[in-house]
Amino acid sequence: MPIKKQRANKNNAPVPVGTERVKVLLSQAKIQKRIREMAKLIRKDFPHEPLLLVGVLKGAVLFLADLARQITGEVTFDFIAVSSYGKDSRSSGQVKLNKDLDSSIEGKTVIVVEDILDTGLTLRYLLRILQQRKPKNLRVAVLLDKVERRLTDVHADYVGFPIPNEFVVGYGLDYAERYRNLADVKILSLPGGSH
Ligand code: XMP
Ligand code: MG
Repeated sequence: MPIKKQRANKNNAPVPVGTERVKVLLSQAKIQKRIREMAKLIRKDFPHEPLLLVGVLKGAVLFLADLARQITGEVTFDFIAVSSYGKDSRSSGQVKLNKDLDSSIEGKTVIVVEDILDTGLTLRYLLRILQQRKPKNLRVAVLLDKVERRLTDVHADYVGFPIPNEFVVGYGLDYAERYRNLADVKILSLPGGSH
């Protein structure tokens, strides 16, 4: 089913730095408070297990770094990188593995850590390949969930915040690689853009 591709700018034209408008959606304080709660929920579900956090590059890096510091007990982490491909990549669900994990996950309790759940196609692909590797447990933690965009019934076990269908940046999320370093999550609108 074709879906409207989300564009931050109508013509995909380069946007001069400084012409974008951003509006805070989630403040740094609100994000950090929720991450402390999520860390407790995760540890409560697995009180005695060493946990392997698998961060999805690059967007989840900041979230993983903060989440990892709030989970008590034994925690390790590894990273995986994927990208969409194909003509209508967002709706075809064709996902390419760009960087695999460094180590085996067999027999381990794995928490996939993702920045945002949108259509769900990326996560569906990731869960399929990770499940084949026979982890003891496989769970998903996402900071943001754009519920109304979902195209597949994949679900996250730990969700930071359900958010509206807006293009967001900051706290790991980018527009053309920019804004990842913002401490807040912000809604991005561009001159001439659809948001
Ligand atoms: P799917 O649709 O497979 O995609 O769930 C999830 C990936 O899409 C990207 N994405 C966004 N990136 N602001 C961003 O910076 C957004 O509002 C946004 N929505 C989706 C993101 O890479 C995520 O991993
Ligand atoms: Mg991502």
